[in-house]
Amino acid sequence: MTSETPRRRPRGRGRRRLSRAGRLLAALLLVGGLYTAFAPGLAAQDTPLSPTAAEGKALYDVSCITCHGRNAQGVEGRGPSLIGVGEAAVEFQVGTGRMPMARQEAQAPDKPPLWEGEELERNTAALAAYIQELGGGPEMPPGTNLSAGGDPGIGGELYRINCSSCHAYSGGGGALSSGAYAPGLGEATDREIWAAMVSGPQNMPVFGDNQLTPQEKADVIAFINYLQDDGDPGGVFTLGRLGPSTEGVAIFLVGITALLFASLWIAGKS
Ligand code: HEC
Ligand code: HEC
Repeated sequence: MTSETPRRRPRGRGRRRLSRAGRLLAALLLVGGLYTAFAPGLAAQDTPLSPTAAEGKALYDVSCITCHGRNAQGVEGRGPSLIGVGEAAVEFQVGTGRMPMARQEAQAPDKPPLWEGEELERNTAALAAYIQELGGGPEMPPGTNLSAGGDPGIGGELYRINCSSCHAYSGGGGALSSGAYAPGLGEATDREIWAAMVSGPQNMPVFGDNQLTPQEKADVIAFINYLQDDGDPGGVFTLGRLGPSTEGVAIFLVGITALLFASLWIAGKS
């Protein structure tokens, strides 16, 4: 042991230095490799887009690029990054006509979409595929009836806990702070409701599968459908959905006043 040590030392030091440099190089390569593999957007640019996504990119470059940037990374003061927002956010924003946004304001309002009918469906799907392939994010289930198997009773309970603070008990919507508002849900389709829950537009929280399971989402949608179909729970004459007791009181007051005038009229005649 002792006789070998002096001979090994000089060689060992040189080799150690070399191997340290080697290890550093290897580590750098590894980090670089991992970065390109996992960094959102960067890897996606290398993999070719699917034909649908390529079609979406062409539409994006015309209608969205000025506010959201060349690779959807966002433009300061114009529009946020779309990396990781997923196809659900695109379907929601484009399908409801919020995007492309016409002008800067507190909240993009829904308006007639840029396209109509089949063209709208096709272009929305193409844009959604592009954003999905670029950066991933929440996806959408297939089909138009997303309340299938949903229980409106359970959905009502979930709605009152999770949604009514902003959208009101009857789904009528309401004002939020600083010019923002939660819209009424009377016109929302199943897909729009689902897309809103998984993408959380504006001030709305995201309801991922941990907050509301797919079954619970179907329950909530079934309940909102029930509100939409039900028209009004208050009877034949509506008082803005204030409910049956309010409307009972109103009928009672109107009736009493009529009786009062009738008796005064009779008393006046005799
Ligand atoms: C005039 C600027 C402008 C244009 C054009 C525009 N956007 Fe936007 N976009 C915005 C702003 C601002 C927001 C954030 C405000 C909001 O969500 O109400 C936004 C939000 C979004 C979101 C939601 C992001 C999130 O975090 O959920 C999506 C998705 C989106 N835009 C897609 C598009 C697509 C697709 C187009 C083209 C068809 C487009 N936008 C065109 C300005 C714009
Ligand atoms: C903190 C307030 C808040 C809560 C809680 C909330 N939302 Fe929203 N919601 C909003 C806001 C704000 C918008 C408008 C977003 C926009 O215009 O970009 C919205 C939009 C929507 C829309 C789109 C309506 C349309 O057609 O224009 C649907 C559908 C919706 N929410 C469903 C729900 C459901 C279902 C829940 C409960 C699971 C819920 N929201 C909980 C604030 C909220």
